[in-house]
Amino acid sequence: MARIIGGITTSHVPAIGGAIHKRLQDDPYWKPFFDGYPPVRQWLAQARPDVLVLIYNDHGLNFFLDKMPTFAVGAAPEYHNADEGWGIPTLPPFPGDQDLSWHMIESLVADEFDIVTCQEMLVDHAFTLPMALLWPDQRWPVRVVPVVINTVQAPLPSASRCFRFGQAIGRAIQSWEADQRVLVMGTGGLSHQLDGTRAGHINKEFDLKFMASMIDDPKWATQYSNEELVELTGTQGIELLMWLVARGALPDKVEKLHSNYHIPISNTASGLMLMESRG
Ligand code: DHB
Ligand code: FE
Repeated sequence: MARIIGGITTSHVPAIGGAIHKRLQDDPYWKPFFDGYPPVRQWLAQARPDVLVLIYNDHGLNFFLDKMPTFAVGAAPEYHNADEGWGIPTLPPFPGDQDLSWHMIESLVADEFDIVTCQEMLVDHAFTLPMALLWPDQRWPVRVVPVVINTVQAPLPSASRCFRFGQAIGRAIQSWEADQRVLVMGTGGLSHQLDGTRAGHINKEFDLKFMASMIDDPKWATQYSNEELVELTGTQGIELLMWLVARGALPDKVEKLHSNYHIPISNTASGLMLMESRG
Protein backbone atom coordinates (compact mmCIF):
# COMPACT_ATOMS: atom_id res chain seq x y z
CA MET A 1 0.00 0.00 0.00
CA ALA A 2 1.02 3.61 -0.54
CA ARG A 3 2.45 5.54 2.39
CA ILE A 4 2.17 9.29 3.05
CA ILE A 5 5.69 10.11 4.20
CA GLY A 6 5.08 13.75 5.08
CA GLY A 7 4.08 17.19 3.93
CA ILE A 8 5.60 20.47 2.85
CA THR A 9 3.75 23.78 2.93
CA THR A 10 5.19 26.90 1.34
CA SER A 11 4.29 30.31 -0.04
CA HIS A 12 4.47 30.93 -3.79
CA VAL A 13 5.30 34.37 -5.25
CA PRO A 14 5.99 34.98 -8.97
CA ALA A 15 9.06 37.13 -8.17
CA ILE A 16 10.79 33.93 -6.91
CA GLY A 17 10.93 32.81 -10.56
CA GLY A 18 12.79 36.01 -11.51
CA ALA A 19 15.18 35.66 -8.57
CA ILE A 20 16.01 32.06 -9.55
CA HIS A 21 16.54 33.12 -13.17
CA LYS A 22 18.86 35.98 -12.14
CA ARG A 23 20.63 33.78 -9.53
CA LEU A 24 19.84 36.17 -6.68
CA GLN A 25 19.79 33.45 -3.97
CA ASP A 26 22.61 35.16 -2.03
CA ASP A 27 21.38 38.70 -2.60
CA PRO A 28 20.59 40.31 0.82
CA TYR A 29 16.90 40.74 -0.08
CA TRP A 30 16.46 37.10 -1.10
CA LYS A 31 18.91 35.18 1.13
CA PRO A 32 16.66 34.84 4.22
CA PHE A 33 13.97 33.39 1.95
CA PHE A 34 16.10 30.97 -0.10
CA ASP A 35 18.00 29.86 3.03
CA GLY A 36 14.79 28.19 4.20
CA TYR A 37 14.93 25.49 1.52
CA PRO A 38 18.24 23.54 1.78
CA PRO A 39 17.10 21.62 4.91
CA VAL A 40 13.97 20.55 3.01
CA ARG A 41 16.09 19.42 0.05
CA GLN A 42 18.35 17.43 2.39
CA TRP A 43 15.30 15.69 3.83
CA LEU A 44 13.95 14.97 0.32
CA ALA A 45 17.26 13.37 -0.68
CA GLN A 46 16.89 10.74 2.03
CA ALA A 47 13.05 10.53 2.13
CA ARG A 48 12.94 9.82 -1.65
CA PRO A 49 9.24 10.33 -2.46
CA ASP A 50 7.98 8.61 -5.63
CA VAL A 51 4.89 10.75 -6.13
CA LEU A 52 3.87 14.26 -5.08
CA VAL A 53 0.27 15.38 -4.56
CA LEU A 54 0.55 19.15 -5.03
CA ILE A 55 -2.32 21.28 -3.74
CA TYR A 56 -2.40 24.86 -5.01
CA ASN A 57 -4.65 27.63 -6.28
CA ASP A 58 -4.60 28.48 -9.98
CA HIS A 59 -4.50 32.25 -10.63
CA GLY A 60 -6.16 32.37 -14.06
CA LEU A 61 -3.78 30.32 -16.22
CA ASN A 62 -5.80 27.11 -16.49
CA PHE A 63 -9.16 28.23 -15.08
CA PHE A 64 -10.57 31.69 -15.69
CA LEU A 65 -13.59 33.52 -14.29
CA ASP A 66 -15.86 31.98 -16.95
CA LYS A 67 -15.34 28.42 -15.63
CA MET A 68 -14.19 28.11 -12.04
CA PRO A 69 -14.27 24.71 -10.32
CA THR A 70 -14.18 24.71 -6.52
CA PHE A 71 -12.01 21.56 -6.46
CA ALA A 72 -10.21 20.06 -9.47
CA VAL A 73 -7.83 17.09 -9.79
CA GLY A 74 -5.38 16.57 -12.67
CA ALA A 75 -5.34 13.27 -14.54
CA ALA A 76 -2.91 14.10 -17.34
CA PRO A 77 0.21 12.20 -18.42
CA GLU A 78 2.18 15.46 -18.26
CA TYR A 79 1.59 19.04 -17.07
CA HIS A 80 2.91 22.09 -18.87
CA ASN A 81 3.63 25.57 -17.56
CA ALA A 82 2.90 28.64 -19.76
CA ASP A 83 3.47 32.39 -19.71
CA GLU A 84 1.23 34.09 -17.13
CA GLY A 85 2.49 37.57 -17.93
CA TRP A 86 4.84 37.89 -14.92
CA GLY A 87 7.92 38.01 -17.17
CA ILE A 88 9.43 34.86 -15.64
CA PRO A 89 10.77 31.84 -17.57
CA THR A 90 8.41 28.89 -18.06
CA LEU A 91 9.66 25.67 -16.47
CA PRO A 92 10.03 22.20 -18.06
CA PRO A 93 6.96 19.89 -18.06
CA PHE A 94 6.09 17.75 -15.05
CA PRO A 95 5.39 13.99 -15.38
CA GLY A 96 1.96 12.98 -14.09
CA ASP A 97 0.92 9.82 -12.26
CA GLN A 98 -2.35 8.88 -13.94
CA ASP A 99 -2.76 5.75 -11.85
CA LEU A 100 -2.84 7.74 -8.60
CA SER A 101 -4.88 10.51 -10.27
CA TRP A 102 -7.70 8.15 -11.24
CA HIS A 103 -7.53 6.31 -7.93
CA MET A 104 -7.86 9.63 -6.09
CA ILE A 105 -10.70 10.80 -8.35
CA GLU A 106 -12.68 7.59 -7.79
CA SER A 107 -12.04 7.65 -4.06
CA LEU A 108 -12.92 11.37 -3.69
CA VAL A 109 -16.19 11.05 -5.63
CA ALA A 110 -17.12 7.94 -3.62
CA ASP A 111 -16.34 10.08 -0.54
CA GLU A 112 -18.88 12.70 -1.81
CA PHE A 113 -16.38 15.29 -3.10
CA ASP A 114 -17.66 15.91 -6.63
CA ILE A 115 -14.49 17.28 -8.16
CA VAL A 116 -13.73 18.38 -11.71
CA THR A 117 -11.32 15.99 -13.48
CA CYS A 118 -8.74 17.47 -15.86
CA GLN A 119 -7.03 15.31 -18.46
CA GLU A 120 -5.32 18.45 -19.71
CA MET A 121 -4.12 21.12 -17.31
CA LEU A 122 -1.66 24.00 -17.39
CA VAL A 123 0.13 24.60 -14.09
CA ASP A 124 0.96 28.14 -12.93
CA HIS A 125 3.55 29.73 -10.62
CA ALA A 126 1.85 28.33 -7.52
CA PHE A 127 2.81 24.86 -8.78
CA THR A 128 6.05 25.47 -10.68
CA LEU A 129 8.01 27.72 -8.30
CA PRO A 130 7.68 25.51 -5.20
CA MET A 131 8.88 22.63 -7.45
CA ALA A 132 11.90 24.72 -8.51
CA LEU A 133 12.65 25.55 -4.86
CA LEU A 134 12.65 21.85 -3.93
CA TRP A 135 14.51 20.64 -7.06
CA PRO A 136 16.66 23.53 -8.36
CA ASP A 137 18.09 21.44 -11.24
CA GLN A 138 14.49 21.28 -12.57
CA ARG A 139 14.88 17.57 -13.39
CA TRP A 140 11.80 16.46 -11.53
CA PRO A 141 12.42 13.17 -9.70
CA VAL A 142 8.74 12.68 -8.74
CA ARG A 143 5.53 12.11 -10.66
CA VAL A 144 2.81 14.59 -9.72
CA VAL A 145 -0.93 14.81 -9.12
CA PRO A 146 -2.07 18.47 -9.12
CA VAL A 147 -5.06 19.42 -6.97
CA VAL A 148 -6.54 22.89 -7.53
CA ILE A 149 -8.74 24.82 -5.09
CA ASN A 150 -10.59 28.00 -6.05
CA THR A 151 -9.40 31.01 -4.06
CA VAL A 152 -9.97 33.46 -6.91
CA GLN A 153 -13.72 33.92 -7.37
CA ALA A 154 -16.43 33.90 -4.67
CA PRO A 155 -17.83 31.70 -3.30
CA LEU A 156 -14.72 29.93 -1.96
CA PRO A 157 -14.85 26.66 -0.01
CA SER A 158 -14.72 27.19 3.76
CA ALA A 159 -11.69 26.35 5.88
CA SER A 160 -13.53 23.45 7.46
CA ARG A 161 -14.59 22.11 4.04
CA CYS A 162 -10.96 22.41 2.87
CA PHE A 163 -9.69 20.51 5.88
CA ARG A 164 -12.24 17.73 5.24
CA PHE A 165 -11.27 17.68 1.55
CA GLY A 166 -7.68 17.18 2.68
CA GLN A 167 -8.73 14.29 4.94
CA ALA A 168 -10.50 12.69 1.94
CA ILE A 169 -7.30 13.11 -0.11
CA GLY A 170 -5.39 11.39 2.70
CA ARG A 171 -7.85 8.46 2.70
CA ALA A 172 -7.57 8.23 -1.09
CA ILE A 173 -3.77 8.07 -1.06
CA GLN A 174 -3.69 5.55 1.76
CA SER A 175 -6.05 3.20 -0.09
CA TRP A 176 -3.87 3.23 -3.25
CA GLU A 177 -2.58 -0.29 -3.77
CA ALA A 178 0.87 0.67 -4.94
CA ASP A 179 4.06 0.35 -2.98
CA GLN A 180 4.84 4.05 -3.34
CA ARG A 181 6.07 6.82 -1.08
CA VAL A 182 3.78 9.81 -1.41
CA LEU A 183 4.60 13.39 -0.42
CA VAL A 184 1.87 16.04 0.00
CA MET A 185 2.51 19.72 -0.64
CA GLY A 186 0.29 22.79 -0.21
CA THR A 187 1.32 26.17 -1.65
CA GLY A 188 -0.08 29.64 -0.94
CA GLY A 189 -0.25 32.35 1.72
CA LEU A 190 0.70 33.32 4.22
CA SER A 191 -0.77 36.78 4.91
CA HIS A 192 -0.79 39.10 1.89
CA GLN A 193 -3.05 41.51 0.05
CA LEU A 194 -2.14 42.69 -3.45
CA ASP A 195 -4.82 45.31 -4.08
CA GLY A 196 -7.24 47.79 -2.52
CA THR A 197 -6.74 50.15 0.40
CA ARG A 198 -5.19 47.39 2.52
CA ALA A 199 -2.58 46.44 -0.13
CA GLY A 200 0.57 45.30 1.67
CA HIS A 201 -1.39 43.99 4.68
CA ILE A 202 0.61 41.41 6.66
CA ASN A 203 -0.32 39.76 10.00
CA LYS A 204 2.74 38.14 11.53
CA GLU A 205 1.02 37.28 14.80
CA PHE A 206 -1.72 35.33 13.04
CA ASP A 207 0.72 33.63 10.62
CA LEU A 208 2.90 32.33 13.44
CA LYS A 209 -0.14 31.06 15.37
CA PHE A 210 -1.36 29.34 12.21
CA MET A 211 2.02 27.70 11.60
CA ALA A 212 2.13 26.40 15.18
CA SER A 213 -1.42 25.07 14.86
CA MET A 214 -0.39 22.95 11.86
CA ILE A 215 1.50 20.69 14.26
CA ASP A 216 -0.49 20.70 17.51
CA ASP A 217 -4.03 21.69 16.59
CA PRO A 218 -4.52 21.29 12.82
CA LYS A 219 -8.21 22.23 12.87
CA TRP A 220 -7.54 25.54 14.71
CA ALA A 221 -8.04 27.72 11.60
CA THR A 222 -11.36 26.04 10.77
CA GLN A 223 -12.98 28.12 13.54
CA TYR A 224 -12.81 31.11 11.16
CA SER A 225 -15.11 31.98 8.26
CA ASN A 226 -13.46 32.98 4.99
CA GLU A 227 -14.54 36.59 5.62
CA GLU A 228 -12.73 36.48 8.98
CA LEU A 229 -9.64 34.90 7.37
CA VAL A 230 -9.56 37.64 4.72
CA GLU A 231 -9.91 40.28 7.44
CA LEU A 232 -7.04 38.69 9.37
CA THR A 233 -4.67 37.76 6.56
CA GLY A 234 -5.63 39.84 3.49
CA THR A 235 -7.54 39.03 0.30
CA GLN A 236 -4.78 36.72 -0.97
CA GLY A 237 -3.85 35.50 2.51
CA ILE A 238 -6.88 33.22 2.08
CA GLU A 239 -4.51 31.02 0.07
CA LEU A 240 -3.58 29.55 3.45
CA LEU A 241 -6.53 27.24 2.74
CA MET A 242 -3.99 25.22 0.68
CA TRP A 243 -2.02 24.55 3.85
CA LEU A 244 -5.20 23.30 5.55
CA VAL A 245 -5.95 20.88 2.71
CA ALA A 246 -2.39 19.55 2.79
CA ARG A 247 -2.48 19.20 6.59
CA GLY A 248 -5.82 17.39 6.42
CA ALA A 249 -4.23 14.80 4.12
CA LEU A 250 -1.46 14.01 6.64
CA PRO A 251 -1.78 11.64 9.60
CA ASP A 252 -3.14 13.17 12.83
CA LYS A 253 0.33 13.10 14.27
CA VAL A 254 3.21 14.81 12.49
CA GLU A 255 6.59 16.03 13.62
CA LYS A 256 7.84 19.44 12.53
CA LEU A 257 11.31 18.94 11.07
CA HIS A 258 11.85 22.46 9.77
CA SER A 259 10.17 25.83 9.27
CA ASN A 260 10.98 29.31 8.03
CA TYR A 261 9.08 32.62 8.09
CA HIS A 262 10.28 35.77 6.37
CA ILE A 263 8.63 39.18 5.75
CA PRO A 264 8.23 40.28 3.04
CA ILE A 265 8.85 38.64 -0.29
CA SER A 266 7.20 41.03 -2.73
CA ASN A 267 3.90 41.70 -0.87
CA THR A 268 3.81 38.34 0.87
CA ALA A 269 4.68 36.96 4.29
CA SER A 270 6.50 33.84 3.16
CA GLY A 271 6.20 30.70 5.24
CA LEU A 272 7.65 27.22 4.90
CA MET A 273 7.07 24.03 6.90
CA LEU A 274 8.33 20.46 6.63
CA MET A 275 6.30 17.87 8.52
CA GLU A 276 7.04 14.16 8.74
CA SER A 277 4.33 11.57 9.35
CA ARG A 278 4.24 9.84 12.74
CA GLY A 279 2.19 6.91 13.95
C1 DHB B 1 2.27 37.74 -5.02
C2 DHB B 1 1.85 36.71 -4.18
C3 DHB B 1 1.06 35.67 -4.67
O1 DHB B 1 0.59 34.63 -3.90
C4 DHB B 1 0.73 35.62 -6.02
O2 DHB B 1 0.02 34.56 -6.45
C5 DHB B 1 1.12 36.65 -6.86
C6 DHB B 1 1.89 37.72 -6.38
C7 DHB B 1 3.13 38.86 -4.53
O3 DHB B 1 3.34 39.02 -3.32
O4 DHB B 1 3.68 39.60 -5.36
FE1 FE C 1 -0.86 33.37 -5.05
